[in-house]
Amino acid sequence: MIRFLIFSVFFQVTFAHANQAIYDAQFEKSLNFMMENMIRPDIAAGAIIAAPSKAHPDYFYHWVRDAALTAEAALDIYKSGYLSDSQSKMLRQFFVDHISFNKHIQKTSLLADGLGEPKFSVTGEVYSFPWGRPQNDGPALRALSLVHILDVATKEKWPEAAQIKKTVYQSEIPTKSLAKADFEYVAHRWQDANFDLWEEVYGLHFYTLMAQRKSLSVGIATANYFLDFGAAKFYNQELQKINADLEKFWDPVQKFILATRFTSNRSKSQLDSAVLLGVLHFNIEDDSFSITDNRVIATFQTLKERFADIYYINKNENLGVAFGRYPEDTYNGYETNGAGNPWVLTTAAAAEFLYRTASEISKMQTLKINSVNEKFFHSLYGTKKVRRGQRFINSDPEFRVLLQNLIAEGDRYLDRVIYHRNTDGSLSEQINRESGYMQGAPNLTWSHASFLTAKIARDRAVTALQNH
Ligand code: NOJ
Ligand code: NOJ
Repeated sequence: MIRFLIFSVFFQVTFAHANQAIYDAQFEKSLNFMMENMIRPDIAAGAIIAAPSKAHPDYFYHWVRDAALTAEAALDIYKSGYLSDSQSKMLRQFFVDHISFNKHIQKTSLLADGLGEPKFSVTGEVYSFPWGRPQNDGPALRALSLVHILDVATKEKWPEAAQIKKTVYQSEIPTKSLAKADFEYVAHRWQDANFDLWEEVYGLHFYTLMAQRKSLSVGIATANYFLDFGAAKFYNQELQKINADLEKFWDPVQKFILATRFTSNRSKSQLDSAVLLGVLHFNIEDDSFSITDNRVIATFQTLKERFADIYYINKNENLGVAFGRYPEDTYNGYETNGAGNPWVLTTAAAAEFLYRTASEISKMQTLKINSVNEKFFHSLYGTKKVRRGQRFINSDPEFRVLLQNLIAEGDRYLDRVIYHRNTDGSLSEQINRESGYMQGAPNLTWSHASFLTAKIARDRAVTALQNH
């Protein structure tokens, strides 16, 4: 016990500082790279490019999903005091422009195939060539980010707040307001098959349903706030059905959550990092499929074991496992018939998951090891210490070690990203599975946004540990 306590005190003092400087420096770089893809003279104000490259691959487009996730990351950074005054000012103006730009793309998508249009030119015209459409995570995500911008504008009393309010939500039907249009689309269309977030597979997807669930839960609060009680009731009724459907994605035999049901692609195992992303992006605390849901923990573990196996770079076990999209992936960042690689955004997501698991567990009174979560906790210790039936009690010293181990494990994944980044801190979409060099779209906005949200999650986990 004494040895244990000494270890614990030592760990606590050294560990929060070990990599802090490297992470802080990359945070600044990623923030700059991300903002360069949001605010630039060669695109419409309020648009966000997926990446600056115009060929091999051409990612010089505004993707609804990438843009909404980036706007959400930027909002969190804005609200949490990570910015200089001039950065804050730039982002505030960006958010105002982002609302106008979204108004434009909603209008152009309604003239085309509808609100599930996934991709637009940098001036807001629909991409009219063949593509995997619709992608129904888009409207759900867009509504969330728009309502979050409205929240901040209202709280901070921006001069534009009244105008933003009108643009984002009005109760009349048919609606001309942005979030209301997206909420209605989600509530009426969530049963429809559509393309997944990787733009490849047609079916019903866990990621998309998680987006739709979160969107409707925020939709209910928003509708109530605007005294739109009929809508709130309708959104709630659809939300309950989505909840019931989500349960069907858990596969108790394979012990992981399936990515897609009713799929057009039957050759996939349905083990996919998309599930992890769905949990991180749309977590509802204490609800099913929240971060500490044992089914989510088991899925993380299975993903980790599978990716550790298939990518050569993962033979270096000093670093966390580099995560890909899914094991059968053949998109190498340039062509779709190559060898799939680990991705930056999924590996950063693994780090974020471990940090947020630490923060969530720190609030629990008791953590019980059972047949679903035991492998995860066992591998965290790498010893025989964790047994089925064991309980970690919040007030025991052992509980603190558990939190420390989770953060240290998250650091190994963040170190993995740091190890493979370019020397100038730029991050591409992928990490070559053999050589470890960056590959695919350079400076993918979403790669940087994912590093940023992982780092914020780390800061919060360290604070939770300090307050424990
Ligand atoms: C094929 C990839 O698999 C898909 O995810 C991507 O969106 C498109 N190519 C376009 O880059
Ligand atoms: C391909 C990814 O699969 C997809 O999720 C993303 O939206 C686009 N690239 C743009 O970054």
